Amino acid sequence: MTSFNGTVLVAGATGRTGAWVVKRLQSHHIDHHLFVRSGTKAVEVFGPEIIDKLSIGSIENPEEIRSSLRHIDAVICAIGGNVMDPASPPPSAIDRDGVKRMATLAKEQGIKHFILISSLAVTKPEHPLNKYGQVLTMKLEGENEVRKLFGEPGFSYTILRPGGLIDGDPLMHSMIFGTGDTITTGSIRRSDVAEVAVISLFTPEAHNLTFELIEDKESQKSSLNQYFKSLKF
Ligand SMILES: NC(=O)c1ccc[n+]([C@@H]2O[C@H](COP(=O)([O-])OP(=O)(O)OC[C@H]3O[C@@H](n4cnc5c(N)ncnc54)[C@H](OP(=O)(O)O)[C@@H]3O)[C@@H](O)[C@H]2O)c1
Repeated sequence: MTSFNGTVLVAGATGRTGAWVVKRLQSHHIDHHLFVRSGTKAVEVFGPEIIDKLSIGSIENPEEIRSSLRHIDAVICAIGGNVMDPASPPPSAIDRDGVKRMATLAKEQGIKHFILISSLAVTKPEHPLNKYGQVLTMKLEGENEVRKLFGEPGFSYTILRPGGLIDGDPLMHSMIFGTGDTITTGSIRRSDVAEVAVISLFTPEAHNLTFELIEDKESQKSSLNQYFKSLKF
């Protein structure tokens, strides 16, 4: 299979999904750079050899984002606010304004591809999760900006809307992909979300696509790219 020929910035690389994105990029031999809030945490997660690949900053800070985007060809954004912690900035600051800021600055920098990890049910304002700072609606507004900016000719986006995130190794399950936010429940391993985000870089069917994804039956896989072809429009 072809791969991606460029450098990918992983935003939120020390998060549980972001760390898997880094590992899957490494397994596909794709050059990468990490945008993280804490260099200490990054070294704990990836070891000291990661230091040369780090940009430290917050998605709330335009200057820090801008400097992380130099010499980058694509962004995979796995950032999410901590809705359970009242001391953390609200979803409006991270999942909406932060994502909009990252996408706007990436586009300004001439970056062509933006991949966003969002969530199942973002189009359901009545969903119980929305009690926490309207997190789903905030994610939808972040998504909308990514679609607007990277849906223009010469650019591309992929927006993944996973179900409940769980831990475990990748490529051990069949997948269900859907569009239109019609999947009501389900879970998926963070490692598989990461794998799908990475193959979206070089899978033409994934470009300019917003889709939901959950896992199905246990079944060992060598690739997850077949599931893009299962999508009906
Ligand atoms: N939990 C679920 O079941 C579920 C379901 C569907 C979708 N999602 C979404 O999927 C995504 C990944 O989830 P996850 O469980 O991997 O999340 P996670 O482990 O909590 O990771 C979130 C990442 O965002 C980073 N972050 C938070 N605020 C930031 C800021 N101001 N600037 C820069 N980075 C910031 C965190 O940095 P630190 O590493 O420094 O903390 C962390 O790396 C999130 O958007 C989440 O909302 C979650």
